[in-house]
Amino acid sequence: ASGPLVDTHGRVHRDLRISLTDRCSLRCTYCMPEQGNEWLARNSILTLDEIVEIAEVAAAAGVHTFRLTGGEPLLRRDIVEIVRRLAVIEGPEGPVEIAMTTNGIRLPDVLDDLVDAGLARLNISIDTIQREKFASLTRRDRLPEVLEGIAAAAASPLRPLKLNAVAMRGVNDDEIIDLVQFAVDSGAQMRFIEQMPLDAGHTWDREQMVTREEIVATLSSRWDLTPVPGRGGAPAEKWVLEGVENGGGPHEVGVIASVTAPFCGDCDRLRLTADGQVRNCLFSIAEYDLVPVLRGGAPDRAAAIDAVLRASVRGKLPGHAINDPSFLQPPRGMNAIGG
Ligand code: GTP
Ligand code: 5AD
Ligand code: SF4
Repeated sequence: ASGPLVDTHGRVHRDLRISLTDRCSLRCTYCMPEQGNEWLARNSILTLDEIVEIAEVAAAAGVHTFRLTGGEPLLRRDIVEIVRRLAVIEGPEGPVEIAMTTNGIRLPDVLDDLVDAGLARLNISIDTIQREKFASLTRRDRLPEVLEGIAAAAASPLRPLKLNAVAMRGVNDDEIIDLVQFAVDSGAQMRFIEQMPLDAGHTWDREQMVTREEIVATLSSRWDLTPVPGRGGAPAEKWVLEGVENGGGPHEVGVIASVTAPFCGDCDRLRLTADGQVRNCLFSIAEYDLVPVLRGGAPDRAAAIDAVLRASVRGKLPGHAINDPSFLQPPRGMNAIGG
């Protein structure tokens, strides 16, 4: 088959999130258990060439954004080479765009090389700017390194630079204003995320979740908010903070309300796990295995990869079922899905 990756609900898939590893330099309580997970076996992790091969097929089918995630993508030793090889891929509409979501650690060491290799956009996760809180939330006392990573990104040409915070009651819901101020000072766009039921310990609790409504109320107590139209398939709903400039223009703040305002109807995403499984949703139970194609000697590998991508798209449900009583969390943890 050829042509774009359209599912049975008419959604066109143009964004592939590629998880490069399930390992991470932090141990955020909402993502991983203290001792870490049972890691994917090293030999099951896709190689540079395998990733490029899949990406070329996806690009030919109309995918134009590749977002590199983890775990922590900067733990891959070949990260610069991965970006370099992906950034030169051309789809039917021209060159693809390479983005990355990272915790920022190690970024100052590699950022120049990543930009040179063709990285276009960066999202950095930062849930708190208080050192002790950071150490207990991530179980690692590494806030200074994250701040250095953000400073390096702020000094780079990559824009828009986005900062992500998962909003957590009693943890960082008192820092919403401070985080926005920090983002403004960094020339970045702050985004707050409703916590989704994807934690390893299955401790997610609807009552504990800080909602979009609460986040907007807190922001409105400090600033006048004007909605930004034209969201497209993006998860974040955005507002301009009236009277706030961040160096690059008026400051925009985003809220990703996956639970109370799902955006599944506009979803344009597929996911590739570090061990070669295609997922059609963050919450899907089914996975579509590329390993037999990549390592089993299929005669026409590109056609076989394309067929797996299309099977995954065909199997995509209309949306997640977080709000259904029958909801089941996927067996894979967030660190192995890639966010
Ligand atoms: P851009 O919009 O391309 O800048 O990136 P993004 O916001 O999609 O990516 P990022 O990795 O920064 O993710 C931010 C938050 O959005 C994380 O909590 C992700 O898990 C969540 N997210 C990203 N894509 C989806 C999606 O398709 N569905 C849901 N429910 N959440 C998503
Ligand atoms: N709900 C929402 N976002 C989450 N992230 C990790 N776990 C969750 C969760 N349960 C975020 C990370 C990172 C992005 C890739 O996903 O903080 O910013
Ligand atoms: Fe897409 Fe699934 Fe996210 Fe909904 S929950 S937007 S279907 S990935």
